[in-house]
Amino acid sequence: MSQLLLLRGGRPLSGEVKIQGAKNSVLPILAATLLARGQVVLRSCPRLRDVDASVRILRSLGCDARWEGDDLTVDTTGMDCCGISDDLMREMRSSAVFLGAMLARCGQADLSYPGGCELGPRPIDLHLSGLRELGAEIREEGGFLHCRAPRLTGREILLRMPSVGATENLMLAACGAEGTTVISNAAREPEVEDLQNFLNACGAKVSGAGSSAVAVEGGRRLHGCAYRAMPDRIAAATYLCAVSSAGGDIFLRGAEERHLATVTAALREAGCDIRRDETGISAVCRGRLRAIRPVQTAPYPGFPTDAQAVLMAALLRSRGATVFEENIFASRYRHVGELARMGADIRVAGRVAVVTGVEQLHGAPVRCTDLRGGAALCVAALAAEGETRISQICHIDRGYADIARDLTALGADARRADEKENDS
Ligand code: UD1
Repeated sequence: MSQLLLLRGGRPLSGEVKIQGAKNSVLPILAATLLARGQVVLRSCPRLRDVDASVRILRSLGCDARWEGDDLTVDTTGMDCCGISDDLMREMRSSAVFLGAMLARCGQADLSYPGGCELGPRPIDLHLSGLRELGAEIREEGGFLHCRAPRLTGREILLRMPSVGATENLMLAACGAEGTTVISNAAREPEVEDLQNFLNACGAKVSGAGSSAVAVEGGRRLHGCAYRAMPDRIAAATYLCAVSSAGGDIFLRGAEERHLATVTAALREAGCDIRRDETGISAVCRGRLRAIRPVQTAPYPGFPTDAQAVLMAALLRSRGATVFEENIFASRYRHVGELARMGADIRVAGRVAVVTGVEQLHGAPVRCTDLRGGAALCVAALAAEGETRISQICHIDRGYADIARDLTALGADARRADEKENDS
């Protein structure tokens, strides 16, 4: 039965939550386990719908994956298949990263095209052209990709744009190539560096991640390891926006401000007091926020597209108007229509959205359009008068282990309910 999230706004937040491991690190790392012979233990792995989908993909390939508490142990020794079914591919758009790992592990991969998604078209041309440059033969046929690479050879690959997924896919394939691969104009996101650290913990030789040139010395035999992924910077950004919206005083244990500098700078400009120490980030916010200078999403270290919706939600009751410019995805303002139901004043023209603060928001029935758009509805609901009923929360479950639990821990009035229970 599908579930709703019921949120009653108007309470300031207070308390502490522990920030989960990063979804966008754990997903490529789970694909990377295909390269390791022996057990990989992912410590404190977040239980997300996308992680579940990755686990199902691994099992469908013949690998063993099991939970022990919060740790996920993967052993890919038994892998006996090099194809991923269309159903599994469709469950998670980022499943494309299995391609590079499968090519490195078994020299072939058959899977369906991940296709478009709720953020607009999601092409993988950069992944495919890079893999071809390493020597893979790729046939695209009726939505399916048939990839063969009896031998991959390291070389220099220049990405047309710094795609996170393409950088990661090529790093994985390059581990199985002979010689050295250098990826230029690589994505610099911290999750790319986390993947490098994981691969090196398994015995790979990868360097440069975090800069725009990543080098991989291929052909090494990788072993298992125990690894803890970095804290989820977008979950941390979400809770910082939550307290900015509702007001209050919270502590995010484990959050790393150096990964979040553009988000914390924007929230400080809006009037929040944000501090960090070696254990996490604290935020104190009182009263209405101020509008801020234009927010332009950009590849890291620019403002993350994944934090655009939650920051927008935090500013709905600000004094003044803030301009947003979305430069990464074509269709990333789908939350705007839902926020408008709660009384928000947002005008969209192409890639630009202008948010003019209103005095008051009100609860309403709203629907998640995508993962971060869904989180934005929660952020807005915390500042709204009355109850907000959020449906289609399966989108939120893709990236937050339990957002209702975390918000409740912070003092919010938030709970999940079955859709039916709510009707009666
Ligand atoms: C990753 C993140 C996602 C985040 C995004 C941008 C994961 C699992 N997901 O997605 O949360 O929003 O980075 O920070 O890590 N592009 C092409 N051709 C390609 C690949 C990408 O044109 O072959 C374009 C995309 O359409 C988009 C831009 O490049 O406009 C950035 O996409 P990319 O960095 O690849 O995002 P993902 O890896 O899919």
